[in-house]
Amino acid sequence: MFKFHYRLERSALGLVGFIILVASIGGFIEIAPLFTIDETVEEAQDMRVYTPLEVAGRNIFIREGCYACHSQMIRTLRDEVDRYGPYSLAVESQYDHPQLWGSKRTGPDLARLGNKYSDAWHTTHLNNPRDLVPQSKMPAYRWLLRDQLRTDDLGQHLATLRTVGVPYTDDQIANATQDAYGQANPDSPEAGGVAERYGDATNIRPFDGQTDKLTDMDALVAYLQVLGNLTNAAHETQTAEVE
Ligand code: HEC
Repeated sequence: MFKFHYRLERSALGLVGFIILVASIGGFIEIAPLFTIDETVEEAQDMRVYTPLEVAGRNIFIREGCYACHSQMIRTLRDEVDRYGPYSLAVESQYDHPQLWGSKRTGPDLARLGNKYSDAWHTTHLNNPRDLVPQSKMPAYRWLLRDQLRTDDLGQHLATLRTVGVPYTDDQIANATQDAYGQANPDSPEAGGVAERYGDATNIRPFDGQTDKLTDMDALVAYLQVLGNLTNAAHETQTAEVE
């Protein structure tokens, strides 16, 4: 073996050829699974898109670096499924650009967070985690309740997401700003259009408890409450497996 290498190193062309051969084996092993991607990624007929308010919340999640402490991907391992719920499916991140699977869990995984707590719990917790979890190491995000949410550019955000494959309609893009307002103000005239454009299952309520203004908190809580609820595919396929 060492002799072979010794001889190989003395022939420049032979060495280059051998490196290319070995590297292409590695490359092939990485690329091969992609050939079956159509069969691997499951389809979910009920998959819905994020509303403009949820998109804004997702952008805040990225801006504040929440992904540095929270993953959004439940592995297929038994202890993960027992703790967090059905393991994550590829289709659940279909409209996530960029995906926020994360690689570190200083705090718990958030992939199935939606509906686990009330809006008021999230608002209090984000404002100061230690009000609810005395030993928490999570930073306080006090400005979220104070800062007015920027909504005038949400149509452009949806249009950009459409260029990478998220099926937003012209109607959804044109009404993004008013839909963001309507989703957090159920009694406003704008609220009706939200359910019409995004489905009856959409959460329409004053997420941060203040109806007089639309804040970053409204958007972030709207996003957190929809995590794991864009499709029911994971629950359906995995209950079927258990039975
Ligand atoms: C420095 C690391 C860190 C950062 C950054 C961080 N968190 Fe946390 N988070 C934690 C820890 C630790 C816990 C567990 C203790 C607790 O509940 O406060 C937690 C808990 C949570 C929970 C409760 C999860 C559950 O299932 O009980 C939510 C929701 C949450 N964080 C959301 C966020 C959001 C949104 C952001 C960004 C605005 C964020 N976190 C940023 C560390 C962090």
